[in-house]
Amino acid sequence: MDERSVLLARYRATRAHTERLSAPLSPEDQQLQAMADASPTKWHRGHTTWFFETFVLGPQGVSPLDERYGLLFNSYYEAVGPRHARAHRGMLSRPTAQQVTAWRARVDEQMQQLLASCEEPVLQRLTPLVRLGIAHEEQHQELILTDIVAAMALHPHKPAALPDFPPDVPAPWKGRRELEGGLVSIGVQPGELPFAFDNEGPRHSVWLHPYAISERLVTVGEWAAFAEDGGYQTPSLWLSDGLAVVRAQGWEAPAYTRREGRAVVHFGPEGERELHPDAPCTGLSFYEADALATWLGARLPTEAEWEHAASAERDEPDRIGPSMGQWYGAAWQWTRSSYAPYPGFRPAAGAVGEYNGKFMIDQQVLRGSSSYTPPGHSRPTYRNFWPSPTRFQKTGLRLAWDLSP
Ligand SMILES: [Fe+2]
Repeated sequence: MDERSVLLARYRATRAHTERLSAPLSPEDQQLQAMADASPTKWHRGHTTWFFETFVLGPQGVSPLDERYGLLFNSYYEAVGPRHARAHRGMLSRPTAQQVTAWRARVDEQMQQLLASCEEPVLQRLTPLVRLGIAHEEQHQELILTDIVAAMALHPHKPAALPDFPPDVPAPWKGRRELEGGLVSIGVQPGELPFAFDNEGPRHSVWLHPYAISERLVTVGEWAAFAEDGGYQTPSLWLSDGLAVVRAQGWEAPAYTRREGRAVVHFGPEGERELHPDAPCTGLSFYEADALATWLGARLPTEAEWEHAASAERDEPDRIGPSMGQWYGAAWQWTRSSYAPYPGFRPAAGAVGEYNGKFMIDQQVLRGSSSYTPPGHSRPTYRNFWPSPTRFQKTGLRLAWDLSP
């Protein structure tokens, strides 16, 4: 297939996947907003459509379906104009879910017509933006899952949003890899991959001291032992901010998780079920991940340690489901690195420069990908980021240890 056909196929597949994910959700489900940090499914479907309409079609002279939609579906682009308050997206009963479906179909037709028929130089210019729009929609596919779980968790019947969603896979193995470290390179050089976010580059050198890193994620069983040992009540295990949040929130278990006798019960897209002790522990804030690592006699890896170790693995980020090592496809893994620009980082030009750079403050980097991440979206250099108290995402941890040189 030539590049044009590949891009078109990728566009179609991504847009179709969003609709497949949302199909089991009724218009009422799609309207729910559990909290300010989460958005309704309908809003995600509209916002990803607005992205293509605004950043790809608009500059090509294609007029939007409804100019008033910008106010509703712009997320955070100051350069594009004013926005409806994020916390009140659940109040947007219009356009209806059906109208959003029609809008998506219209934009898909316009996009496919443009990509199929534009001159080669135009295609060259549009390709990076279309790839960004595709990666952006994939990110929102994960958010559709995390956000509908947040909403369904508040319903007394605990309805399953997606009854067929596969449960987490237990990882019964143990083991760690020891790495010498030294001067290593991390990050992506511009043009090195068909697509990478601007925050993944430039490639640069980092000095790593000798370290060991676990070949699986911390498990539900390990977390239960920590909780039973009074982990949540032991100040010496916690960062100062973490202890304050644990006390203020009364946390005793990860998000959507509770102990029932010896069992650990968790609510996910597939509904409520008992977790296998060897399943990855998820729904953890950075604070809990750090305390749990400390209790286990270890620490969180830095993002450079994570990337160096993951790049040496044979794991294929694109495969569906977690692989040996659980680098991808099980849970996002908190690192000890705060989200900061790499040396030489420059945000992309134009409004899309607001995509990553302006969020490089007060957040921690997470690496890998989760069972909610769509296939084809992960890679060793990928930098996810959330504020430390966040736990409504599918977040867990991997242990690391210092080795003496
Ligand atoms: Fe977005």
